[in-house]
Amino acid sequence: DGLYTAPTDEALRSDIEPVVRLVEEAAQGLLRQPAQASPKFFYDVLGSRLFDAITELEAYYPTRTEALVFDTQGAAMAEAVRACLGRPPVLVELGAGNCSKASRLFALLQARAYVAVDISVEFLRQSLLNLQLQHPEMDLAGVGLDFSASLDLPADLPVLDSGPRLLFYPGSSIGNFAPDEALRLLRDMHQLAAGGALLIGVDLIKSSALLEAAYDDELGVTAAFNLNLLLHLNRVLGSDFRPADWRHVACFNAVESRIEMHLEARRALVVSWPGGQRRFSAGERLHTENSYKWTPAGFESLLQRAGFGSVQTWCDPKGWFAVCLASG
Ligand code: AVI
Repeated sequence: DGLYTAPTDEALRSDIEPVVRLVEEAAQGLLRQPAQASPKFFYDVLGSRLFDAITELEAYYPTRTEALVFDTQGAAMAEAVRACLGRPPVLVELGAGNCSKASRLFALLQARAYVAVDISVEFLRQSLLNLQLQHPEMDLAGVGLDFSASLDLPADLPVLDSGPRLLFYPGSSIGNFAPDEALRLLRDMHQLAAGGALLIGVDLIKSSALLEAAYDDELGVTAAFNLNLLLHLNRVLGSDFRPADWRHVACFNAVESRIEMHLEARRALVVSWPGGQRRFSAGERLHTENSYKWTPAGFESLLQRAGFGSVQTWCDPKGWFAVCLASG
């Protein structure tokens, strides 16, 4: 059906190992000073739905601003892609999810094939089956992979070589990595592009008021997204977090140029799980996410340090969000 899946025993191994590692990672994070939890714990089923709801909020500008950049400047981007790749590309989307962002660009970019990469292989399988019905002529493939750990795509995936590669990483998810981790990931992407290009969205620095409103919306959707991480941790780790004991906090750290999300204990409490416990005093925080904000020049220079020789950037009129095409 055009979908790549690892051989069964491989798939089983990779299903079991991460759970053991996840439990360890969750416990180690809680024992740190200050306590922290990886943002990957946001994305259980409810968390993914809450994130979708966030992207619909008036206050959460990144999704619609990125869409505006594609709507208004997509033709110029497509021209630049054609100029640098020469032939119709294979579009490789990282963190593809429901594949909707890339599929809207198939015609514009004249993509000849599409490879979707995502950690959630079952969700991907369903998305690709639906997509194949809408685009019966396209060669589609999916790869289940946590590419933040390693960007090694299977060597025996012929569709990857059916044209020059155009990697696509929209949504400013690169902002959820610290600059040194982002650099490592972009280096991996440069290698995977194999002489092709990378089209990547990145959120830009703006006033603290706008940033903080986007991460602490009036409806409390982002607060629910943040608090839901505790319920996910309870399932993974067997811990006894009670969301009512915690308060959502989002603040812009101008020195580090990042929005920080935390959960703050409303009272002194102890969280326990099999094999461990952690005491929190009232007001003590659990750090759940960083979302780094870049300047266009700073991000272009990061792309260049990752190995890309040429970078072109398109922004919305307010300068809130950028889409970069990096090649060479
Ligand atoms: C997925 N990522 C780009 C989002 C962001 O803006 O950093 C995650 C998010 N966290 C709170 N709201 C949205």
